[in-house]
Amino acid sequence: MENFIYTLVQLVHNFGAVAVAGSPVVALWFGRENKIALHKLTWLMALGWVAQGASGIGFAVTSYTMKGALPEVEGVALTALALKVGCTLIGVVLAGFYLMTGSRWSAVNQLRMWKLMVIMTLTALTAAAVLRWYL
Ligand code: HEM
Repeated sequence: MENFIYTLVQLVHNFGAVAVAGSPVVALWFGRENKIALHKLTWLMALGWVAQGASGIGFAVTSYTMKGALPEVEGVALTALALKVGCTLIGVVLAGFYLMTGSRWSAVNQLRMWKLMVIMTLTALTAAAVLRWYL
């Protein structure tokens, strides 16, 4: 049962990672002239960040309820986890803000936002690899 729940949480987490990493890349390379595509990609990105936050919390809740304690995260792993949480917080807030007000942003600021999202996901994915092997 425990493994099954971890698998479900990981499933959401993995597809969330694809959404947050893929949406800004597609937006920058293919969608800049297409407003409808950009709007859909913005939704995908925002939902992806929410999925990452929710499944990140899901990992902690599963460990706490199934194993009775949170995993001991220290040193390099803690730094990696802090980076992931930081990226996720910024991702959720910025994606939500962009979703609500982005149509009024200048083209330059929109471009900056998508580029920042690429940096955020590269950082989080790098941190994920570190967390995986130093936990
Ligand atoms: C609140 C933020 C986050 C938390 C708390 C969190 C937590 C976790 C945990 C506990 C794992 C399992 C580690 C293990 O296998 O031992 C994991 C795996 C993973 N996370 Fe996150 N994560 C967060 C955000 C993100 C983000 C933003 C991304 C990508 C953009 C991401 C990508 C991944 C990937 C790809 C794995 C699988 C690593 C592997 O097994 O090789 N995570 N995460």
